[in-house]
Amino acid sequence: MNQRPAILIARAVFPDVVARLREHFEVETNDEDAPFTPAQLIERLQGKVGVLTTGSERIDAALLAACPQLKVVCNIAVGYNNFDVPAMTAAGVLATNTPDVLTETTADFGFALLMATARRITESEHFLRAGQWNRWALDMFAGAEVHGSTLGILGMGRIGQAIARRGAHGFGMNVIYHNRSRLDAESEAACRARYVSKVELLQQADHLVLVLPYSTESHHAIGAAELAQMKPTATLVNIARGGIVDDAALAVALREKRLAAAGLDVFEGEPCVHPDLLDVPNVVLTPHIASATLKTRRAMADLAADNLIAYLGRGEALTPLNAGLPNPRC
Ligand code: 8YV
Repeated sequence: MNQRPAILIARAVFPDVVARLREHFEVETNDEDAPFTPAQLIERLQGKVGVLTTGSERIDAALLAACPQLKVVCNIAVGYNNFDVPAMTAAGVLATNTPDVLTETTADFGFALLMATARRITESEHFLRAGQWNRWALDMFAGAEVHGSTLGILGMGRIGQAIARRGAHGFGMNVIYHNRSRLDAESEAACRARYVSKVELLQQADHLVLVLPYSTESHHAIGAAELAQMKPTATLVNIARGGIVDDAALAVALREKRLAAAGLDVFEGEPCVHPDLLDVPNVVLTPHIASATLKTRRAMADLAADNLIAYLGRGEALTPLNAGLPNPRC
């Protein structure tokens, strides 16, 4: 009889990560990589003590009650809005995420999306590919200036600060930010960022990048009212989570040219995208790939695996979200 604990890897990961986990556990994988329905996930988790998840697996009170042997859930993501952390704490189940390893890569992408959006790169490429480029014109695809402009950042955690550094030091931008709590003076100086109210941020930013976590409080943090306060020449970039922006209201603002352009890596209800966004030309759309370099995705999967091994081996994870569980499942 095999005594090793059983775990589930809910989505396909790199083979060497699976092999490493197999040195410690009985491992069930999802080689087809099709996201499980909540009922399928519960079924697959029977008898499992741990699971590697991604943003597509929801871990809530109902699942925890239906999977009494589950002790630890390790997200391959820094965001964890797919977890009900209070329910996990109440059930004695440890939650972990993957901070730090994706910070710089995600900030690179945020900046790339800002540049592509402001300078109309995909819009002009579509034009060229469609064979519409038959003459040059002085104002052809004239976009918005990036260097020296005002960069607004909503949500000033690790990734927000990494974007601020790029803007301030790389592009000579005037960086302003709004966050639930203000950074200390040293951190503000390091990224040359100035704290402002949310209204000031909306009104002053030439480019507004969203990097805040999703929660009921941040749902539609950028809706019709907020969009109306932004400059009509401004660019909006969302690399945070779908649902932070009201996508329907954004499509209207873009169509009516009340906002110059948007760059979106995340969507409400993704992988479905609001059909109106697909119709407007002044938006750059990418399929939730901000952390997607091979090196970073490997580091994320490795960190999630290390968390699983550490917690099930010695009762301590590397990057826990609810450390010090009052009644851990044993
Ligand atoms: C993940 C992300 O790749 O880390 C996050 O929060 O949004 C991405 O880096 C994605 O959530 C898949 O789990």
